[in-house]
Amino acid sequence: MDFNLQDKVAVVTGGGSGVGREIARLFCEAGATVIVADVIPEKGAETARMLSNLPGQAIAIKADVTRYAEVKEMIAAALKVTGKVDILVNNAGFGVLKNFGDTTPDDWMVDLGVNLFGTLHCTRELINHMVGRKYGKVINIVSDAGRVGEAFQATYSAAKAAVMGFSKALAKEVGTHGININCVSLGATKTPLIMPFITPEIENRLIKAYPLRRLGLPQEPAALVVFLASDSAAWITGQVYSVNGGFSMI
Ligand SMILES: NC(=O)c1ccc[n+]([C@@H]2O[C@H](COP(=O)([O-])OP(=O)(O)OC[C@H]3O[C@@H](n4cnc5c(N)ncnc54)[C@H](O)[C@@H]3O)[C@@H](O)[C@H]2O)c1
Repeated sequence: MDFNLQDKVAVVTGGGSGVGREIARLFCEAGATVIVADVIPEKGAETARMLSNLPGQAIAIKADVTRYAEVKEMIAAALKVTGKVDILVNNAGFGVLKNFGDTTPDDWMVDLGVNLFGTLHCTRELINHMVGRKYGKVINIVSDAGRVGEAFQATYSAAKAAVMGFSKALAKEVGTHGININCVSLGATKTPLIMPFITPEIENRLIKAYPLRRLGLPQEPAALVVFLASDSAAWITGQVYSVNGGFSMI
């Protein structure tokens, strides 16, 4: 098995926190150059600082993935520095937590904007580059909410399900160009996104739905992302893998 990512360049959206930061860390440990693209520049810069003593290199570039113009600028800036991108991880995301009957079209646009359109923007901006180089790995971070549905997260679930459909369709379209597209689906994972809401009581209640009786850690899905980004996973495409303590088994 070869998880060496030396000479590889990766873009990780939402790399300023949580799962994205762990993916950036593992990529850097494997020797990659990582563009940490986050809407909050201080968070991206903090990730780059934290990883500065690892074999690879982390470079923070600000981008709001919901804005195609900003994504174009971020990718152009990345290509100017690195000359190529081999790996794209569409990780930036979050969901609105509301009774659907109380949501508004603005709420739907938040869910679709960051989770679906963010993925479309970054992938669109890099796919022709990857096709031209006959090499590329795209890994989309989704949620078990999109696989089995989650109450009070209807449009988030819809957005993540849409990303899975998009990933499978595009995997069929670009497979002949040496491009692998896969999804890693998360169960509840201890990141700054959810921890403010997880009291000990809530955690005890939540873990009853998890056969492994605990919540996930950000490095756990990140490890699978490194495998999928490596050439050891060269024959895997169009798949969705859950890292979820057994929450769903599909
Ligand atoms: N943590 C969980 O329990 C959980 C469960 C299922 C799925 N997920 C998914 O995992 C992914 C990572 O989540 P996390 O838990 O690490 O969250 P997090 O909040 O810890 O990190 C997300 C990062 O994305 C950045 N971001 C937000 N909007 C952005 C935008 N428009 N453009 C660029 N960057 C943006 C944030 O600034 C933050 O640094 C998301 O796609 C999320 O939907 C998380």
